[in-house]
Amino acid sequence: MQALLTAGGHGTRLRPITYTLNKHLIPLANKPMIFYALEKIAEANIKDVFINVNPGDKEIFQAVGNGKRWGLNVKYIEQTGGPKGLAHILKIAQPYLGDESFIFYLGDNLIFSSINKFVEKFEREKYHSLLTLSKVKDPQRFGVPEISKDGKILRVEEKPKNPKSNFAVTGIYIYSPEVFRALEHIKPSFRGELEISDVHTWLINNGYNIGYEEITGWWKDTGRPEDLLEGNDLLLRYSGPNGKIEGKVERGVILDGKVTIGKGSKVFGKTIIKGPAIIGKNCQIKNSFIGPNTSIGDNARISESEIERSIILANSFIKSAGKKITNSLIGEGARIIPNFESLPSGHRLIIGKDSQIEL
Ligand code: DAU
Repeated sequence: MQALLTAGGHGTRLRPITYTLNKHLIPLANKPMIFYALEKIAEANIKDVFINVNPGDKEIFQAVGNGKRWGLNVKYIEQTGGPKGLAHILKIAQPYLGDESFIFYLGDNLIFSSINKFVEKFEREKYHSLLTLSKVKDPQRFGVPEISKDGKILRVEEKPKNPKSNFAVTGIYIYSPEVFRALEHIKPSFRGELEISDVHTWLINNGYNIGYEEITGWWKDTGRPEDLLEGNDLLLRYSGPNGKIEGKVERGVILDGKVTIGKGSKVFGKTIIKGPAIIGKNCQIKNSFIGPNTSIGDNARISESEIERSIILANSFIKSAGKKITNSLIGEGARIIPNFESLPSGHRLIIGKDSQIEL
C-alpha cells in the first residue's frame, strides 16, 4: 500500500491567508495541517508517499522534505496544467503509482481516529475501492452517496442541490489500480474539474466492487475559516500540544487548564491564559487574556489584549486595547494596534485583497 496525498489547489475560501501560504501549511495547534495527515499515514504502516503539488510549488517540500521525520519516503508530483480536479491528480499520478493499491488522502482533511481499520477492511474484502463516509449537516458541500436499502452505494453526486443521503464521502479513499480505468471515461463537471465522485459512479456502474466504512469519530474538511477554528479547538483539546511550560512565566500570571508555552517565550504582567491554548516559541505576552481554544504562533508580541478562540500566525503584533478578538484567523506578521495611537481616530485598515473584517 502506498499513499497519494494532495497539497495543491488554490485554497480560495481561505484567502487572503492562502495568497502567501499554501493552505496545507496553515498551522493548527501550531503544527502545519498536512503533518496530521502524514502522521496518520505513518501510523497505518505505509512507507511510500507521493505528494501532489501545484506546478513550481516549493513550500510543501521545504516543510515536509523527504519524510524521514515520520519514517516515510516522500516524493513529489507536480500537477502539470494546474489544479483541474481530484481525478486529474489520479491521471498525473498513475505512472508513479504503478500496479499497487494506494490510499488517496486529501491533505486538507482531518480525522481523529486511526485509518488502519479502513486499510485492513479494504484488503480483507478485496475491494476495488473503499470510500469512507461521515454524517454531516450540510451534504451539499461534499460528494454524497446514494445508498440502497440493502446498504449498497448506487452512485456518488458531487455537491448535489438535493442530496440523496446525509453522508459526505470524505477525502480518505482507498483504491486498487483498477481505479485508473475510470479516468478515460469522465468529463469535466459544471465547475470545470475532473471530479472524484464521477470516478466512483463510473466504477459502480461498471461492476467494480466498492465498499464503504463510516467514520464515527470526528472528521473535518478544513476548506473554510470556521472549519479551521473547529479543527484547532479539537486538536488543542484532545491531542497535539503536550501542556509543557518551556518558556518563562512570571509570578502573578494565571494559567488555567491545558496550556503549552514554547521555549524562549515570556508571559508577564496581569496575564491570564485559559486552556486549551498554545503559545509558540519566543513570544511575549503581557497584560492579556488569552484563550480558551487559541493558538499563538512563534515570535508573537501580544499586549493589552483579549483573544479568544483564534489562530494567530507567527510574528504578529497585537495590542487590541479593550476590543476582544474572537473566532479570528490572523495571518503571519499582521499588526493590530489601537486607533488612539494614531490620528485621525477611527478604524484604519490596511488589509489585503479578499480580507474579511467584522467591526
Ligand atoms: O473533503 C471531502 C470532499 O473533498 C469530498 O466530499 C468531495 O467529493 C471532493 O470533491 C472534495 O471536495 P472539495 O471541494 O472540498 O475539494 P477541494 O477542491 O477543496 O480539494 C481537496 C484537496 O485536494 C485539497 O487538499 C486541495 C487538493 N487539490 C484540489 C484540486 C481540485 C489539488 O491538489 N489539486 C486539485 O486539482
